[in-house]
Amino acid sequence: MTDYKLLSEQLRALAEDEPNFIPVLSNASALINDNMTDLNWAGFYLMDNGSLLLGPFQGKVACIRIALGKGVCGTAAQLDETQLVPNVHEFPGHIACDSASNSEIVVPIHKDGKVIGVLDIDSPSLNRFTEEDKVGLEAFVKVLEEVTVF
Ligand code: SME
Repeated sequence: MTDYKLLSEQLRALAEDEPNFIPVLSNASALINDNMTDLNWAGFYLMDNGSLLLGPFQGKVACIRIALGKGVCGTAAQLDETQLVPNVHEFPGHIACDSASNSEIVVPIHKDGKVIGVLDIDSPSLNRFTEEDKVGLEAFVKVLEEVTVF
């Protein structure tokens, strides 16, 4: 099980030196990729002109733009609700950027009460993400919202 408390502390320490969103999100995706097992993609999409634009990530080349309401990321951003998807092939409109992905979790990111992006994490295993991961990652995103200058 990932130590989400430690992960959030590491993020906080990193952002103390430089809170700009480019290095913070880049290092946040590296922290996740290094500290969670069984992943094939971890990164960010940020709201830009009404749709989600690819941000810092770890993994294979990914889709550059995702419309609100489309796929798992667009759904999480539109509903402002974490999407925990045990089997992406059963998710209506799932966007297969990397054919290795079988399960996924997407957590919305806020600024001034509005969704400004999402954290997206993919796994090659079915049912990779648990309720515990959801709670831990939502707490991680809360810290991210607090320490990052977007
Ligand atoms: N599968 C996502 C698209 C982004 S990639 O996984 C990196 C989705 O359906 O929103």
